[in-house]
Amino acid sequence: MIAETVFNQGFEVEGGDFVRGGEASCRILEILKELAFPPSIVRRAGIAAYEAEMNIVMYADDGGLELTVTPDRIVIVVADRGQGIPDIELAMRDGYSTATDEIREMGFGAGMGLPNIKKNSDEMKISSTLGEGTRVEIVIKANHGEVRCEDSRPCAES
Ligand SMILES: Nc1ncnc2c1ncn2[C@@H]1O[C@H](COP(=O)(O)OP(=O)(O)O)[C@@H](O)[C@H]1O
Ligand SMILES: [Mg+2]
Repeated sequence: MIAETVFNQGFEVEGGDFVRGGEASCRILEILKELAFPPSIVRRAGIAAYEAEMNIVMYADDGGLELTVTPDRIVIVVADRGQGIPDIELAMRDGYSTATDEIREMGFGAGMGLPNIKKNSDEMKISSTLGEGTRVEIVIKANHGEVRCEDSRPCAES
């Protein structure tokens, strides 16, 4: 566990389960709201977590999300056991998707999930081993590097 952890919880995700798919990221969104993060940060974390969760549902056997909150950052580690990604650079491209027709009929497979995770996070690390699984680490900084006064107005760095 990361030092100074203020919150830590894991959520399991089952591959192929489109009924419960999305529940873990929904819980994460609720928790971050309860922890009083600003709506813009909650929204970014929610989008990134949802996209990574649905990638487990669509492309992996099973896995999970682990939410860790420290005073200065939100870290969401999304790891699965599954087929893995053969070419991460290709997978990261806008519009690239290997979604089946069945998945596309459900409204997924636009190939914008990984790019959206990158766009909505301050740091994104992705690693994958073929036939073993994939790990995506999403970091969202709590204050965007701004130094904040006690009354939470942004103030000049000294
Ligand atoms: N967890 C994962 N396991 C295996 N392959 C994945 C995983 N996440 C993403 N991919 C691969 O990367 C591609 C791009 O992912 P993404 O940008 O989320 O688009 P989409 O989900 O719409 O296909 C997927 O089509 C899939 O081939
Ligand atoms: Mg996706």
